[in-house]
Amino acid sequence: MSILRLTCSPQGTQSESYQLSQHIVQHLLGVTPEAELIELNTSALPHVDAEYAATLGAPADPDKQDSGSLALSASLMRSLVDASSVVIATPMHNYTVPSGLKAWIDHVVRVRHSFHATSEGKVGTLSDRPVYVAVSSGAMISGDRARQPDFLTPYLRTVFATIGIHDVHFFSVQGSAFGEQARALARQQATAEIAQHFANRC
Ligand SMILES: Cc1cc2nc3c(=O)[nH]c(=O)nc-3n(C[C@H](O)[C@H](O)[C@H](O)COP(=O)(O)O)c2cc1C
Repeated sequence: MSILRLTCSPQGTQSESYQLSQHIVQHLLGVTPEAELIELNTSALPHVDAEYAATLGAPADPDKQDSGSLALSASLMRSLVDASSVVIATPMHNYTVPSGLKAWIDHVVRVRHSFHATSEGKVGTLSDRPVYVAVSSGAMISGDRARQPDFLTPYLRTVFATIGIHDVHFFSVQGSAFGEQARALARQQATAEIAQHFANRC
């Protein structure tokens, strides 16, 4: 049993999204203390390479897949498949996910591995499991005070559904740029929502 946590902010463990994700991880470890916590920082993940892109467009995989993005994809996918739950700590960058998280997605959303392309569309191959997304944004991304589009939330929902994962939950500290008081209040609300979520699940 393992919890896979992706840390996606350039500010790493100092980031708002990582701090929020700590509350989720603590709740998960409270329920399953024996779970192993696997940490992955996506900020430095390389983009997919030419061989990988060619393979995804080809009718079958090559025999040799032990280098470059093909090998990295296999290893990233293994940690995802093995995870009983996934925690993603991410800021919003330009209305969507940071580029490092996008690189991770490009490595794990892979035809013939995590989904099959059928005449009905893409069909995911992974078993469902909970994914908890801890988001931080400078301004508001939901509610009456949102003045910007949110491509992060629907994008992540769609990407995970593509590979068979539908149990996706979002918690957010929004308006981090609105001053310390507003940030403290947003943190308080988000952590209360997390506590409520896990209280309901037990
Ligand atoms: C490159 C970049 C792009 C950003 N784009 C947005 C944005 O589109 N909307 C927004 O509300 N905040 C945006 N922000 C602000 C961050 O989302 C905000 O500072 C957040 O609290 C950072 O979270 P972190 O501490 O987890 O990295 C952006 C920040 C950076 C560095």
